[in-house]
Amino acid sequence: MIVLAVETSCDETAAAVVVRDGEGRGRVLSNVVLSQLEEHRPFGGVVPEIAARSHLDHLDSLVQRALDDAEVGLDSLDGIAATGGPGLIGGVFVGTMTAKAIAAARGLPFLAVNHLEGHALTARLTEGLAFPYLLLLVSGGHCQLVEVAGVGRYRRLGGTVDDAVGEAFDKTAKLLDLGYPGGPAVEQAARAGDPQAIKLPRPMAGKPGCDFSFSGLKTAVRQARQQMAAFDAQAAADLAASFQAAVADVLADRCRHALTQFEADTGQPGPLVVAGGVAANQVLRARLHNLAAERGTRLVAPPLALCTDNAAMIGWAGLERLALGLSDPLDFAPRPRWPL
Ligand code: KG4
Ligand code: ZN
Repeated sequence: MIVLAVETSCDETAAAVVVRDGEGRGRVLSNVVLSQLEEHRPFGGVVPEIAARSHLDHLDSLVQRALDDAEVGLDSLDGIAATGGPGLIGGVFVGTMTAKAIAAARGLPFLAVNHLEGHALTARLTEGLAFPYLLLLVSGGHCQLVEVAGVGRYRRLGGTVDDAVGEAFDKTAKLLDLGYPGGPAVEQAARAGDPQAIKLPRPMAGKPGCDFSFSGLKTAVRQARQQMAAFDAQAAADLAASFQAAVADVLADRCRHALTQFEADTGQPGPLVVAGGVAANQVLRARLHNLAAERGTRLVAPPLALCTDNAAMIGWAGLERLALGLSDPLDFAPRPRWPL
């Protein structure tokens, strides 16, 4: 089965062609991503109206490129997938309208994919991972721990009570004048810093349950910066490294709790899967890798290009649903909010 997919829920316009063979193995035939970074940079964050217009300007040509790269014609497709939410609603409209139009014109099934489900199932595309597994989803808009028991079978063990972790990275980068987008900038700056230089809190660490909180950490970074006599590149590096270490500590602590819960529920120690844009962070990956090893299981982290937003993950989630005989009506309404 072959699916064409589009992703337009935030500031990346993306299209991909993905195939699933008879044994359930996936392969990405093409995966094109156009970042709107430069359009949003002057504003220090994503401007929804600019994002929607930019998706509209570029999506058609990206779809054509995805088909060309895959050397696949519309005649060979078995379905058309689009992110149906959650996300910036203008962009989600552009993506779903485009996919619906192709599906209607070609008489193909339309698949409205939950963006989070795309992140959640990526490890099955890249590693052929079997159910169940524990998912740590960490992105700009989301931060949660989920037991993934099957396609459409998700149990949330915990999540952030305030900011998402990617948001905390982005806000910290702003506080430290490191620019936008924040995550990669903080990681880069932290390489030259001492993670123990500045004492920062570990919100929620040691508490029962699997919830997160990051707003206190952000406030602590602001106060630490204000208290510094001189704020130079070394000070920024030390603060970035200290912040990153605090985040890694908190996430590892929460994952430790979640793994205990997961084992009680499923009788398996793992595996632990990390997905979402923040999963690109190498310090975090190393930390979770060690945690998994300690717990007698393994960490599965998709390649970086499939961790940040892309359409291949949407295509794969669409294929998983299509293989179960599932699809969506053409009057599907885009959803700004859509919990897993
Ligand atoms: O999954 P994603 O591409 O988009 C959302 O669905 O949100 O995640 C984007 C988020 C941003 O907050 C970005 O700062 C963060 O992921 N991010 C990182 C890194 N690369 C991207 N955070 C920490 N370290 C990184 N290397
Ligand atoms: Zn995402």
